[in-house]
Amino acid sequence: MTTVDLPLLPLGRGTDRTSERGVECPGDLPAPSDPGLVERARAAKEALGDRVFVLGHHYQRDEVIAFADVTGDSFKLARDAAARPEAEFIVFCGVHFMAESADILTGPDQKVVLPDLAAGCSMADMARLAQVEDAWDALADAGVVDSVVPVTYMNSSADIKAFCGRNGGVVCTSSNAEVALEWAFEQKPDAKILFLPDQHLGRNTAVQKMGLTLDDCVVWNPLRPGGGLTPEQLRDAKVILWKGHCSVHGRFSPAVVDELRATIPGVNILVHPECQHEVVLKADLVGSTEFIIQTIEAAPAGSSWAIGTELNLVKRLANAHPDKNIVFLDKTVCYCSTMNRIDLPHFVWAMESLVAGTVPNQITVDPETEKWALVALERMLALPGRTQKD
Ligand code: 13P
Ligand code: SF4
Repeated sequence: MTTVDLPLLPLGRGTDRTSERGVECPGDLPAPSDPGLVERARAAKEALGDRVFVLGHHYQRDEVIAFADVTGDSFKLARDAAARPEAEFIVFCGVHFMAESADILTGPDQKVVLPDLAAGCSMADMARLAQVEDAWDALADAGVVDSVVPVTYMNSSADIKAFCGRNGGVVCTSSNAEVALEWAFEQKPDAKILFLPDQHLGRNTAVQKMGLTLDDCVVWNPLRPGGGLTPEQLRDAKVILWKGHCSVHGRFSPAVVDELRATIPGVNILVHPECQHEVVLKADLVGSTEFIIQTIEAAPAGSSWAIGTELNLVKRLANAHPDKNIVFLDKTVCYCSTMNRIDLPHFVWAMESLVAGTVPNQITVDPETEKWALVALERMLALPGRTQKD
C-alpha cells in the first residue's frame, strides 16, 4: 500500500495540506513553548532530581509530555504513581481525579501536585456523591440494592470511588472494564451493576465485550426524579448506567465514520470506548489510549487509520508515524479543554515553586474518603489479567 499524504482533518478544512488550520499556526509564528520556559523547566527538574516524579497522561500537550518521567493511560499512571515511594513530590500532568487517585495510592509523606487546579473533568463532575446516594436509596426502595455491585470508572471523584469501596464495589479504567465487570458479576448471585459515571464505557463493555443486550441496560438520569426509571425497570436491568459522558469522545459520530470509509480506501477505524455505542459498533478496533498507541506502533507502514480519541494524542501519533496515514475521526478540532489547562507556564510555575520550598496546588483526599477509595482501587489493581483482554 502506498502512503497518501493525508491532512489530520480530511473532512474538515484539511484541503489545505501545508497548514492544518485551527490545529497549528502556519508561518513563522513562535513555537508554543517559549525557549526560555523550556530552559526553566529543565533547570527546575534538574534541581529537584529524584525528589520529583512527573506523570503525564497521553492527552497532555507535547510541551508538557516532554518533561514527563512516564506517560500512560489512567490505569498505567495509577500503577506508576504507586510504584515510586521514594519520590517526595508527584507532579501530575493530567486532570483532578487522576491526581486524587495518585494521592490515595501514594504514601502519607508524598505530596501530589496538579499544576492547574482548573484541570477538572466534565465527565467526573456528572456524578456527585449526593446524587449517587439518591440512586442507591431508589435501588433499596425497589428491593434490589442487596444485589447491586457499584463499579466506577477511574474518571470519577474520590468520594464516588469511596462509595464503591464501602459498598462492595470496584474502580475500573478503560483498560480493564471488562475484567472489572466480570469480577462484579461474580460477587453476588443475580448481581446487577451500577456503572458510574460514563454510560458509554459501561454500555460498550456490557454489550460488546460481555454479550449482554441493550435491553439488559437502563440509563439512570440523576437530573430526573427516580432517575427517570420505574422500580420495575430497576428490577429487570442487569446494568444500570449512569447518565454521564465524555464531552470529547461523545462528539465522534457514525456519520463521520461512514464518510471517512468512503474517502480513505482501507481505512481502519480505531476508537476509545468512551465513544457512543453507535460509533463503537462501526469501529474496527476499540480500546484505551494505551491500546490505541500499541495498535498504531504495531501497524504496517502505509496503513490508514482514523482515530477517535483526544486530539493531542492523535496529533502525536501522526507525527511519530509519518509512514502511516493517521487522521482524526472528526471534522473539527476538539481537544480536551481541561487536559489542555496544564501548559508549560503552569508546569514551570509548579516546578519552580517546589524548588523554592513551597508546594503549590497540593491535592489531598481526606482520610475517611481515602480509606474506602483505596479499597476500591486496590480491588482494581488485584483484578486478574488486569488489562484489556483483546
Ligand atoms: P484512559 O486514560 O483510561 O484511556 O482514559 C481516557 C480519558 O478520557 C482520560 O481522561
Ligand atoms: Fe474527562 Fe473526557 Fe477530558 Fe478525559 S477526555 S478528562 S473523560 S472530559
